[in-house]
Amino acid sequence: MVFFLNHQTVLVLDFGGQYNQLIARRVRECGVYCEVKSYKTPLEEIKRMKPVGIIFTGGPNSAYLEDSPHISREIFELGIPVLGICYGIHLMAHLLGGNVTAAVTSEYGKTPTSYISSCALFDGLPAEGISWMSHTDYIDRLPAGFVSTAHTADCPVAAMEDPARRFYGMQFHPEVMHTENGLAMLHNFLYKVCGCTGDWTMGGYAETEIASIREKVGDGKVLLALSGGVDSSVAAALLAKAVGSQLTCIFVDHGLMRKNEGDEVEAAFRDSGMNFIRVNAGARFLGKLAGISDPETKRKIIGEEFIRVFEEEAKKIGKVDYLVQGTIYPDVIESGAGDAAVIKSHHNVGGLPDAVDFKEIIEPLRPLFKDEVRKLGLELGLKDYLVWRQPFPGPGLAIRIIGEITPEKVSLLQEADFIFRDEITKAGLDREIHQYFAVLTNIQSVGVMGDGRTYDYALALRGVTTTDFMTADFARIPYEVLSAASSRIVNGVKGINRVVYDITTKPPATIEWE
Ligand code: XMP
Repeated sequence: MVFFLNHQTVLVLDFGGQYNQLIARRVRECGVYCEVKSYKTPLEEIKRMKPVGIIFTGGPNSAYLEDSPHISREIFELGIPVLGICYGIHLMAHLLGGNVTAAVTSEYGKTPTSYISSCALFDGLPAEGISWMSHTDYIDRLPAGFVSTAHTADCPVAAMEDPARRFYGMQFHPEVMHTENGLAMLHNFLYKVCGCTGDWTMGGYAETEIASIREKVGDGKVLLALSGGVDSSVAAALLAKAVGSQLTCIFVDHGLMRKNEGDEVEAAFRDSGMNFIRVNAGARFLGKLAGISDPETKRKIIGEEFIRVFEEEAKKIGKVDYLVQGTIYPDVIESGAGDAAVIKSHHNVGGLPDAVDFKEIIEPLRPLFKDEVRKLGLELGLKDYLVWRQPFPGPGLAIRIIGEITPEKVSLLQEADFIFRDEITKAGLDREIHQYFAVLTNIQSVGVMGDGRTYDYALALRGVTTTDFMTADFARIPYEVLSAASSRIVNGVKGINRVVYDITTKPPATIEWE
């Protein structure tokens, strides 16, 4: 990535804590470009990036133990401001000659904290407030040159500074929204300590990216697999602006989209100047899925069939020079900690490098976080409903129909899911609940309709709140909203006579049912 050459850049050094991406997102929210790199990044590489500031993240270890993640002391000799957060403040204190040890009382959660307002971090902010703590170690002796600038009842060094060398630390997590004025504290570090000017905006990004794509592509042909999800839609809009009719988007409609979704995607791109190809392959996919009920087999069949259809269409276009992928920054970040285990074989329609012959891949969203992708989409004039679309899995409704998939079940689920989503939107909860959908179970149960007995399907509703989709809580949807959805569904969708609400968190459940 070369963005650090064109923008003031802050480097977030990842020591394996759970909020590391959040720190980077907050820095970007402040209008400052930043990159997350492993704490193992060689000093030479750091120097090449010429960061205007460095942030050490939190992490699960104890800074005074030998095998904990460390960094060379030379980093403090570069003349660059450093902010240590949680483990980061411990590491700074430890490396610069202070002492870190196990705290008598560990602190967790919202903690009343007093700040010294003359410290640049707290400039212009109230002297008392709540901070979000999560630590079992603490600093019991400051390094030379430092003073404590915040404390709590149990923690004498809740923040520290050495303004002469521009070194700062916070024991608490300013990036977490539970810390009052946390964003303002980060803003202070960026603008008052590092001298940031706020040169990172999505308008500016669109402009430079369009120009650089144009230059790279020349008169070449570009191909993009459009799923209708936020990332591929924004990538398509950007490419359409850059190269117009040299871009072909292939939208494989596998017939397992939500109600009206295929038509909505088509409406958004039909007249955008690109070549838009919609392949209605519903019958083909359902044919392949007939009689299959194992979740992983369903996923594999859809993934493979998707590539076949895409390949067939791409061949019709002839030679392609560039393939666009909708990779975004969270997929790119090398974490200081290890990789997560694979629970489900995810299918993404962002890129299909093996399927088509091409010269190079273009990844126009590679440096962006999801919220930035959305901002960019709005900047490019995409409609709200596309930009704010909740995540939708590549295999679509196939993994929300438990057991065998039939055309009847697909339309039952489309209708029921549409009603549920409509009720959520009417209640104004569509941004608050991060993902919500219906699942058609393979359980039939007895009901009574009028004077007659029914033996129909039970439908499950799922709504979750989450920051990263790695963990999630079930959304506390008000009973009235659930009740309205339930009665509209059982009265309006023939074949469903029971509605239940899923109240499990992830883990131990996953968000999708398959
Ligand atoms: P799980 O069910 O693993 O889902 O908790 C986490 C998030 O990923 C989405 N998901 C997928 N997204 N292709 C995708 O692009 C897939 O195959 C896929 N499977 C699950 C899911 O909707 C949730 O947002």
